[in-house]
Amino acid sequence: MAKVHTRFVCQSCGRAAAKALGRCPQCGEWNTYIEELVADEPARRAAGSNGASAAAPLPLAHIQGGAESERMPLSIGEFARVLGGGIVPGSLVLIGGDPGIGKSTLLLQTAMEMAAHGRVLYVSGEESPSQIKMRAERLRPSDSQTPLPDSLLLVTETNLDAILHHVESTKPRLLIIDSIQTVYDPQIDSSAGSVTQLRECSDRFRQLAKSSGLAVFLIGHVTKEGVIAGPRLLEHMVDTVLYLEGDRFQSFRLLRAVKNRFGATAEVGVFEMVGRGMQEVPNPSEAFLAERVVNAAGSAIAVTMEGTRPLLVEVQGLTSPSAFGNPRRSGNGVDTNRLLLITAVLTRRLGLPLAEQDVFVNVVGGLRIGEPAADLALAAAIASSVWDKPLRADSVLIGEVGLSGELRTVPHTPARLKEAAALGFKSAVMPRRLRKNEDLPAGIEVREARTLREALDLAIAK
Ligand code: TYD
Ligand code: MG
Repeated sequence: MAKVHTRFVCQSCGRAAAKALGRCPQCGEWNTYIEELVADEPARRAAGSNGASAAAPLPLAHIQGGAESERMPLSIGEFARVLGGGIVPGSLVLIGGDPGIGKSTLLLQTAMEMAAHGRVLYVSGEESPSQIKMRAERLRPSDSQTPLPDSLLLVTETNLDAILHHVESTKPRLLIIDSIQTVYDPQIDSSAGSVTQLRECSDRFRQLAKSSGLAVFLIGHVTKEGVIAGPRLLEHMVDTVLYLEGDRFQSFRLLRAVKNRFGATAEVGVFEMVGRGMQEVPNPSEAFLAERVVNAAGSAIAVTMEGTRPLLVEVQGLTSPSAFGNPRRSGNGVDTNRLLLITAVLTRRLGLPLAEQDVFVNVVGGLRIGEPAADLALAAAIASSVWDKPLRADSVLIGEVGLSGELRTVPHTPARLKEAAALGFKSAVMPRRLRKNEDLPAGIEVREARTLREALDLAIAK
């Protein structure tokens, strides 16, 4: 066994220090340092010390591979899009998300699908083989008579050496590790899920992927800091980082790429968790608006960008007299600071009597809006509830609200309008355009406003 020494590691961001620090200078979290034993760096560098090394520099032009055609196609279209168009051989992909959000389900579906094209090894450290079999049966179409393919291999294992041995003997094209927090390297004297184990095990999978051309998917739970280290500190080691998000009580799930060496970041795939696994939602705007009550006061339609894709979502506002002196502002799916800012602007610039009113805002479908472009819809939903007047049902609202009550331009206007037009909306209330030469889609009337007040005038149904 290698020589070891002790060090202290931040459980939140992975920063190492010689002694325990009260507050991490890197991520600012308190009391996150724990002691760990680490193996001293093996004599890896010695190999190259005489000047000879395994890999010699080559002209880029002579290097084989790198063609887009090498990607393994994946018929789960939303997943393929987020990956940049299929699975890249030799890539290491991290899929993070809260427990219970659907990571195992999505990857088992992927495994079943990819097994048609080659061998897939699914390594689980969390569930028993019979549990996984049960899930696989559930994910199969009910009319499917064909048995599960023999090329889909399953093993429950958490020992890194044993996993690598199984990979060696089965030679899969795709390896799925569910989850990286359960895997441990027996050479290292710290428990599974610790920073050192996570780093070392992920690094071994990275080497495996790069040396063999095997694609590796690592599942990682996002957990509260301090319990076990989250996948955040692995982000720099892997090629692609995807997060599966959503409200556990709602069925929509967003698969978001936050890093991708082989495709666009900020790409988003939308799924719905149904009785038979994760189902793609090819037209999310339609799904998000499916239950909308037209002509109800307090309902506004925002057009938000998720990655490169515009999404129409309903923002609901409700105001009611507050029982106690201290009015509440409560938002679901919106940033609380944004909500406070909007209510302040509505109170001060438009004179809305919100001082004695509780304000509730909800984004339908469990989506989280992080974009100021939804400000106008947020403000309109609240104002519409206060006035008890519905907004025009065929109109979408786009624009950022400034502190002086002005309406500010947002990026990607043509794409947003196109999506709104495609869903049958007739007009859009939006800021005055700075770039008049931008090509706007036909079939949707643009109604420009300079201020929030003007915009609300245009938006309220007459
Ligand atoms: P799972 O994939 O186990 O989540 P994770 O691996 O991210 O922890 O998903 C668990 C949830 O999904 C569980 O609450 C049950 C639900 N589910 C369905 O609704 N439909 C299905 O077909 C499956 C397999 C799971
Ligand atoms: Mg799981």
